[in-house]
Amino acid sequence: MCGIVAYSGSRPALPVLLSGLKRLEYRGYDSAGVAVATPTDITIRKAKGKVSELVNLLSEESSLESSTTGIAHTRWATHGPPTQENAHPHAGGKNGIALVHNGIIENHRALRDKLKADGYTFLSETDTEVLAHLVDSLYQGNLTEAVIAALKEVEGTFGIAAMAHAEPGTLVVARRGSPIVLGLGEKETIVASDASAIIKHTRQAIYLDDNDIATINGSDLDIRTLDSGTVTREASEIDWSSDAAEKGGYEHYMLKEIFEQPEAISNSIRGRLDHERGSALLSGLNLTPRELAELHRVLIVGCGTSMNAGLVGEYAVEDFAGVLAEVEQAAEFRYRNPIVNPSDLVVAISQSGETADTLAAVREAIDKGALVSGLVNTVGSTIARETGRGVYLHAGPEISVASTKAFTSQVSVLLMMALKFARSRRMSREAGLQMVREIEAIPALVQQVLDQNDAIAKVAERYLDQTSAFFIGRGYMYPVALEGALKLKEISYIHAEGYHAAELKHGPIALLEASVPVIALCNDGPGKDKTLGNVAECQARDSRVLGIVTKGDREAIATVDDFIEVPACPLHTAVVPSTVALQLLSYHIARLKGCPIDQPRNLAKSVTVE
Ligand code: M6R
Repeated sequence: MCGIVAYSGSRPALPVLLSGLKRLEYRGYDSAGVAVATPTDITIRKAKGKVSELVNLLSEESSLESSTTGIAHTRWATHGPPTQENAHPHAGGKNGIALVHNGIIENHRALRDKLKADGYTFLSETDTEVLAHLVDSLYQGNLTEAVIAALKEVEGTFGIAAMAHAEPGTLVVARRGSPIVLGLGEKETIVASDASAIIKHTRQAIYLDDNDIATINGSDLDIRTLDSGTVTREASEIDWSSDAAEKGGYEHYMLKEIFEQPEAISNSIRGRLDHERGSALLSGLNLTPRELAELHRVLIVGCGTSMNAGLVGEYAVEDFAGVLAEVEQAAEFRYRNPIVNPSDLVVAISQSGETADTLAAVREAIDKGALVSGLVNTVGSTIARETGRGVYLHAGPEISVASTKAFTSQVSVLLMMALKFARSRRMSREAGLQMVREIEAIPALVQQVLDQNDAIAKVAERYLDQTSAFFIGRGYMYPVALEGALKLKEISYIHAEGYHAAELKHGPIALLEASVPVIALCNDGPGKDKTLGNVAECQARDSRVLGIVTKGDREAIATVDDFIEVPACPLHTAVVPSTVALQLLSYHIARLKGCPIDQPRNLAKSVTVE
């Protein structure tokens, strides 16, 4: 949640800060602000709304253009509503301190009371202003020392960037539970909470670890931990291009990312299928043959779309490998004290690798002695680093808040995982080779759905005016129904729920009427006949039914009112093209309704609070 950019170097800071904020706007977009060093003080400017509001505000301020040091922030509100006052940066009272912060200071109330008693006045409702005043109260001419002392007093999570008027050119940045990356340039350092804000300037990056604090002046860096002296952190190369994070001619990032799926999935599976053994490689899992053979259970944790992908993984691991598998909402996993054995593999799925609930589940599983693996898209993210047995998705940066290519890449990797586990147990080489071919075919299946984009847009026109919709499916198509409903509600604001097709008549069917359509996954395979029976039940209650049907399936086409065809393939791979059809449906409904597709209300791309 929220985005941080900071700059110290020899160039004007503002253009770097503002272009970085634009890049990070998907992380939070209810207000934005900058602080830049001027010869006489630190100037802070903030605006409610999108980064463009801040840009307008600054367009009149030529006096700030020569500044070469600054910090900036785009906010997703946690403490206090999205107002100009609550926007970051916040100033520390007496010593000319400015600070931006991602995360949550949990003991902010107690600290606020103490600082008030010491004479500090608060202008905002935020926990961040508490931190700014706390740093200020501990400042004795050395910003690094003041930040270290302040961070020792706070409980909670933070990624911060701070500057002090008395130390021109210096930035102090730190992290605990909220990412900070340092982009290393020529005589300059660009700091950000996400590498997408720095790739325009450099590909050399240092990812700070939890409790690291860095003092930066131009390209001079000193990194230490909150408890000890200087430490060495190796730089790594960011391997995705700046172009990959641009819209590339599409109207929205979501559409671009939907269309990127054949390539993203190809990248996820490239080099990971073993044509000789009929298996998957996935060396990142780092499991010995014995650990694989002794695997007792696979526990999959994630949130939102990642959890829906996990459900496909659960089905596939049990189906093919005969290993017990369960998927669980990550926050629930952490707090209900689950039973976890050393022979259990916990697979944490996360596009961002920063989701707080998923990270907490990872830590719980590590503490309980399980084997813990991360299935993550964002390289260098916290979950990727903490799990140690990471399998990267390689789907490329996903900017739109609605997750699309991450889901289909997650499913593809989970199918490979199921294949690997299956081959270490009861699956024959021949059956393994067959599954290898099925997985390899996924990108082409997706392309066949993308080729129907115009037709799907036409179908969407018939589903614009509804305020409520149900998605139903069975077996592998049940997670697809959940994901289809999630996509529709988050970007079009139409109330949508996903149900197992059999569950509808246990309650939800009471809501069906002519104004409530049903989107039914009727793919050919086991369970289709029963789903078609459920379709008839819906139609008997006047609901219009849009069927996702297997290409050329006359029986299904004749049953439903409208249809989108997906190519014929086994149900475990049909998950992917069927989901893509629903992504396009949601996209076109939201577009036709004029919704802000890439940045839906109330949401943020990376949910780093519990
Ligand atoms: O980054 P993660 O995969 O951990 O994010 C989990 C969810 O917040 C995310 O999938 C969310 O549900 C998406 N907005 C759905 O499109």
